Amino acid sequence: MDIIIGSDHAGYDLKEECKTFLQRSGENEVTDIGVFSRESFDYPKIAHTVAEKISKGNFRYGILICGTGLGMSIVANRYKGVRAALCYNLYTTRMSRLHNDANILVMGGRTIGVGIALEMAELFLKTRFEGGRHKKRLDLID
Ligand code: RB5
Repeated sequence: MDIIIGSDHAGYDLKEECKTFLQRSGENEVTDIGVFSRESFDYPKIAHTVAEKISKGNFRYGILICGTGLGMSIVANRYKGVRAALCYNLYTTRMSRLHNDANILVMGGRTIGVGIALEMAELFLKTRFEGGRHKKRLDLID
């Protein structure tokens, strides 16, 4: 699966962990748009890049990580066709795919641990949208 991933400085460590984990399985092609250090960086720049590429259909799924996940999700959800879900456990992650057909998983590098984040990333990518009544609801968003 082709995945685009990005973070600011506060999400850098978790982004690196996620990238390595997803690449290790050999099933994913992960495009990392940065940041590439812990130096302070403005999260909207990364969120705009990832969300624009998802909106244009260049990638099916994205992962965004900042300190809380809040800033990244606020920016990303301004783009048409983007459904960025700020998830914080396995239940919200599963539901973000089943009911919301989320295409960007957003996490907080300062709010969740590495172990749960990696499980969330895996679950997000493997869970399929249920469709049906949930499709009708998604259509009502725009
Ligand atoms: C950076 O300090 C922090 O504000 C940012 O990573 C994010 O949490 C914003 O929503």
